[in-house]
Amino acid sequence: MNTHLPHEAAGQGGWSASLAERDLVLTDQDFARIRELIYQRAGIVLAEHKREMVYSRLAKRLRHHGLTHFADYLARLERQPEAREWEAFTNALTTNLTAFFREAHHFPLLSRHVAERRDKVRVWSAAASTGEEPYSIAMSLREALGSRADQAEVVATDIDTDALDRARQGIYALEQVTKLEETRIKRFFQKGSGRRAGFARVRPEVAAMVEFKSLNLLAPGWPLEGPFDAIFCRNVMIYFDKTTQARILQRFAPLLKPDGLLFAGHSENFSYISEAFRLRGQTVYTLAPRP
Ligand SMILES: C[S@@+](CC[C@H](N)C(=O)[O-])C[C@H]1O[C@@H](n2cnc3c(N)ncnc32)[C@H](O)[C@@H]1O
Repeated sequence: MNTHLPHEAAGQGGWSASLAERDLVLTDQDFARIRELIYQRAGIVLAEHKREMVYSRLAKRLRHHGLTHFADYLARLERQPEAREWEAFTNALTTNLTAFFREAHHFPLLSRHVAERRDKVRVWSAAASTGEEPYSIAMSLREALGSRADQAEVVATDIDTDALDRARQGIYALEQVTKLEETRIKRFFQKGSGRRAGFARVRPEVAAMVEFKSLNLLAPGWPLEGPFDAIFCRNVMIYFDKTTQARILQRFAPLLKPDGLLFAGHSENFSYISEAFRLRGQTVYTLAPRP
C-alpha cells in the first residue's frame, strides 16, 4: 500500500496518486495562514509565487497524517504550539540549496585570514544546510593550518533538522564531489564501494572538526558562544525581511573577534542594513569601528 496516500483514499484502492493529490484542498486563506506561520516561526517571507512549492511540500505532511484539507492540518498545528509537527512543517518549507566551495572566492580569504593564528580558530556556519558549507570551511582550515586544524572548530547550525541529519552523515553523491579539485577529493573524501558506490564520505579528520546544532536565527537565545574568527551567513538572509536581517546582524557583532570576518551570500548586501559592519571586499564584512 502507498503509505503516502490519505487513509480514506488508500482504503478504497484503485486511486491514482495524482487524483489523490488533487483531492487536497489549499485555499487562498490556507496559503495566507501558512505564510504567516512560517514568518512567525522562522522569519521566512514566502513569496506569492511559492504556492505550488508549498502545496507539494506540505501535501506530504497532510498525507502522512491522513488529512485532505490544509485547513485541518493548520488548525491542528495551531492548537498545539509545542507539537513535533512544527519541526516537520518548518523543515518542509526551507530551501536547502547549497554546494561545496560555493562562492569559491570566500575560502582562500578565510585561509589567509586564519593562517598565522596561534590561538584556537573558530568559525560559525550559521545556515549550514546539508553540510557542504561547514565541511568546505573545515577543509580550508586544514589547508591553511595543517595538523593545527585538529584544534580548530566549525560550529554548523540550521533550523532544518532533516538537513542537519544529512549533514552529520557527511555522505554525498559522487557527482557533487567530483566537481572539486582532484587534490581536494583525494585529501578530504573517501569514495564508497559496494552498497556505497556512487557516494563519497567526508574523511573523519574533517568531520571531527564540525559540530552540528539546531539553531533558529530568530530564537531569542542562541545555544553557542563566541568569539568566532569568522561567521558565514550566506543565502539565508534573502528569505528574511529587512527588520529581521538588521536584528540578526546586530546579534552577530559581539560574537566576532575584533578583526573577524562576516561572509554574506552573493545577492546579499548588509551595508545598508546594519551600521555594525562595513564592506571589506566582495560580500565580505568586518566590524565597523565604534564611534
Ligand atoms: C539556501 S540554504 C543556504 C546554505 C548555505 N549557507 C549556502 O550558502 O550554500 C538556506 C538555509 O537557511 C536555513 N534557514 C532558513 N531559515 C532559518 C532560520 N530562521 N534560522 C536558521 N536557519 C534558517 C534553511 O534551513 C537552509 O538550510
